[in-house]
Amino acid sequence: MRRAWLLGAALVAIPTLTSCNGDSAANAEPVRRYALGRTASADEITKWDIAVGPDGANLPPGSGTVDAGAALFKAQCANCHGANGEGIAPAYPALIGRDPKGENFVFDTDFKITRTIGNYWPYATTVFDYVRRAMPHTQPGSLSNDDVYALTAFLLAANQVIPMNSTLDAAALRKVKMPYVDRFVRDDRRGGHEVR
Ligand code: HEC
Repeated sequence: MRRAWLLGAALVAIPTLTSCNGDSAANAEPVRRYALGRTASADEITKWDIAVGPDGANLPPGSGTVDAGAALFKAQCANCHGANGEGIAPAYPALIGRDPKGENFVFDTDFKITRTIGNYWPYATTVFDYVRRAMPHTQPGSLSNDDVYALTAFLLAANQVIPMNSTLDAAALRKVKMPYVDRFVRDDRRGGHEVR
């Protein structure tokens, strides 16, 4: 009796799987079949199309000072990243700190050294990009461009990359050279199994 039931279940399952895999028209047009999703509008695409590359292309208008960034950091970032950007283990990374042990890029000999913006990030422009698109963690996209310039200025100054009285805009941010940019190589692999 039990065996007959199992056999019945198997017979039902096989045609179901076959029709799923074999129905290529349905795979090609999932929207029409399931009535899910829609084409993104030009306005929506513009809102997401905010990538700023290492060279600073696409940095938006706006500016911000270190002081304004310090106030924003206290209000919107310190609860997760610590009052002094020291991080809160295990989930919230340190943003500020130039531990002397971490200088000269010795991460391959001491895995425990904390990587921060000051001792590890290769480009200042991507600090702007990351904060604008991803932070604060619970409300990404909520900061104005002026806010993000200010926060970037604060993070760079607190990491001793730029002076404490700096104001950053697109042109100034493009000129910032990170201390260890020369330790990075551009990844020019083309895929496959190349080994360097
Ligand atoms: C609710 C908690 C929370 C708040 C608030 C928050 N962050 Fe974060 N932040 C995180 C977490 C979690 C990560 C790690 C994300 C990951 O690795 O995917 C992170 C990562 C980062 C990083 C990248 C660190 C690195 O070196 O990889 C930066 C920069 C950063 N946050 C800046 C900010 C700034 C600026 C603010 C305030 C506007 C902020 N964060 C507010 C939780 C938070």
